[in-house]
Amino acid sequence: MKLKNKIAVVTGASGGIGSAIAKHLDKEGCKVVLAARSIDTLQSLQNELKNPSLVVEMNVSSTESVAKAFSQVLQKFKTIDVLVNVAGVMPLTYLKNLHLEEWLETIEVNVKGILRTLHGVLPSMKENNKGHIVNIASVDGKELYKGGAVYGASKSAIIALSRAMRMELSPEFNIKVTSIEPGTVDTDLREDISDKELLKDKDYGGDEPQLNAEDIARAVLYAVSEPDQVNVNEILIKPTGKS
Ligand SMILES: NC(=O)c1ccc[n+]([C@@H]2O[C@H](COP(=O)([O-])OP(=O)(O)OC[C@H]3O[C@@H](n4cnc5c(N)ncnc54)[C@H](OP(=O)(O)O)[C@@H]3O)[C@@H](O)[C@H]2O)c1
Repeated sequence: MKLKNKIAVVTGASGGIGSAIAKHLDKEGCKVVLAARSIDTLQSLQNELKNPSLVVEMNVSSTESVAKAFSQVLQKFKTIDVLVNVAGVMPLTYLKNLHLEEWLETIEVNVKGILRTLHGVLPSMKENNKGHIVNIASVDGKELYKGGAVYGASKSAIIALSRAMRMELSPEFNIKVTSIEPGTVDTDLREDISDKELLKDKDYGGDEPQLNAEDIARAVLYAVSEPDQVNVNEILIKPTGKS
């Protein structure tokens, strides 16, 4: 059991994909830190876990909140082995409809949020000369479409950042970095969308093939369970039936 007693921080653990990842890591023996803003949801998830765990309030849009959360984690567990960056928003909009606040929030959470958690986790991983950071990006970072400009740009940034993190952190500190790029997953993520014109055009209630959150959790488990000499760089996952 490679993951037994490893300390794994999962951001966005209150959501569909994050909670599935947290449960899978717990099943493999990790001590999981559940991080998000919805504390009640995290606490009920914590009740389902069998290993020691911790709930921390973390708003990835706030430098102060992220720093406080990481200091709570280190106070309890002293170290961090795995960080899974899942927290994200997807308020898709057409650029012509000028949803500036949503564009800025997308970058604030999806991109700047990862910089804040990276800042929180690096001291521990540098000291250990070991660690694994998994960033949940998206297929949308590689395949752009109308309405997905800012979200796609945020996920492209995560893919590029992951590549650069590997370049700087892997040779010097033995830190592995994996970006995972899922296609459509059946979660509440699309509830972020407020652009009425876009909602009218897209058929989110249709019978388009979708992945389950567990499909993404298994990919994370695969990446973090590989032997020390293997760094799984990227995993792109689409539902069967989608090209
Ligand atoms: N569903 C898909 O089709 C799909 C496909 C590709 C990639 N992804 C990516 O997968 C990740 C998880 O999405 P999901 O599908 O599981 O959606 P979800 O169920 O809506 O979960 C989103 C998660 O992000 C957290 N979050 C949002 N803003 C936050 C903030 N400011 N601070 C801290 N946490 C914040 C939410 O927690 P709180 O609200 O409790 O803070 C929640 O836990 C996202 O990065 C998304 O871009 C999803």
